[in-house]
Amino acid sequence: MKNKILEELKAGKGQPVSGEEMSKRLGISRTAVWKHIGKLRNEGYSIESQTNSGYKLTGSPDVMSLSELEPFLKTEFIGKNIIYLDSIDSTNIYAKKKAEDPFREGTVVIADEQTVGRGRLGRNWVSTKGKGIWMTIMLKPDIQPSDAPKLSIVAALAVANALRSCCRVNARIKWPNDIVTGGKKLSGILTEMSAEADEIKYVIIGIGINVNMEADDFGQEVSNIATSIRIEKGIPVLRKTLAASVLLEFEKIYKVFEKDACIKDFLDDYKGRSAVLGKEIRLINKKEEITGRAVDISEEGHLVIELADGSCREVMSGEVSVRGLKGYI
Ligand code: BTN
Repeated sequence: MKNKILEELKAGKGQPVSGEEMSKRLGISRTAVWKHIGKLRNEGYSIESQTNSGYKLTGSPDVMSLSELEPFLKTEFIGKNIIYLDSIDSTNIYAKKKAEDPFREGTVVIADEQTVGRGRLGRNWVSTKGKGIWMTIMLKPDIQPSDAPKLSIVAALAVANALRSCCRVNARIKWPNDIVTGGKKLSGILTEMSAEADEIKYVIIGIGINVNMEADDFGQEVSNIATSIRIEKGIPVLRKTLAASVLLEFEKIYKVFEKDACIKDFLDDYKGRSAVLGKEIRLINKKEEITGRAVDISEEGHLVIELADGSCREVMSGEVSVRGLKGYI
């Protein structure tokens, strides 16, 4: 009922809505209307009461439920079904359980807080309540499982584009899919897949963006390597507009990719946003450590490294550090 009252207030488009009219339309007493208005105020909605004319919605909290995101969401199918959770262990874990049953393509799981946010290589991902975008996009692309890792390229480009257009942040991509600015990490992406033989059952793309985090939220160790939009720009950012922009950018690129599982059409854009190309780097993966110069990204999404002897190596995965003033960062 509280949400119905909210819909009524939103339908007023900034004009007062009469309490009596709402009570008649919704078949509840005026006291009940007033109680729900109180609950909405407790959730952060600013609602003015005006004697004789009713209730006027003057401000909404930065909540990323479907009703709050919808006015900003310009997509065709990504995020048209949103599962909004106040608190969850991890949106990726939740999405994986959901994906065991049939789901609507492009469903997005968003949480205000993750208690066990997961990063790559089994690391933790700090996911403070109300301060970031912690979301997972659920997909069932009609592509070969071997092409699924290219979705990391799609997601990274989408996040970098959205951060640039929405927040004017100089977001660069540290191959394959870390988003960095000024040498610190702003966003991370964790793509997971379930497949059988040559058929994908699902792919889930977990995106974490440090939006309004402050240095204290990260803890001493992480704050040396992580940053947030708020730290970079010095002002808080509305998460819902950024989340809607990420989903739109993702959809645009994903539609191109899904046709033939090819990244060729947007590879130049990705390379243009790269934080590693042309730099001396060190790459560590399960098998080895390679140092050299990052010279290209292939159409497979692999990193091409020029070694000291002038030969080139193409690598599929690994953790890149870029040579900086203090060694490799
Ligand atoms: C990384 O280590 O760079 C990847 C971080 C991915 C974090 C996001 S937040 C939403 C989703 N749920 C998780 O538990 N992890 C991903």
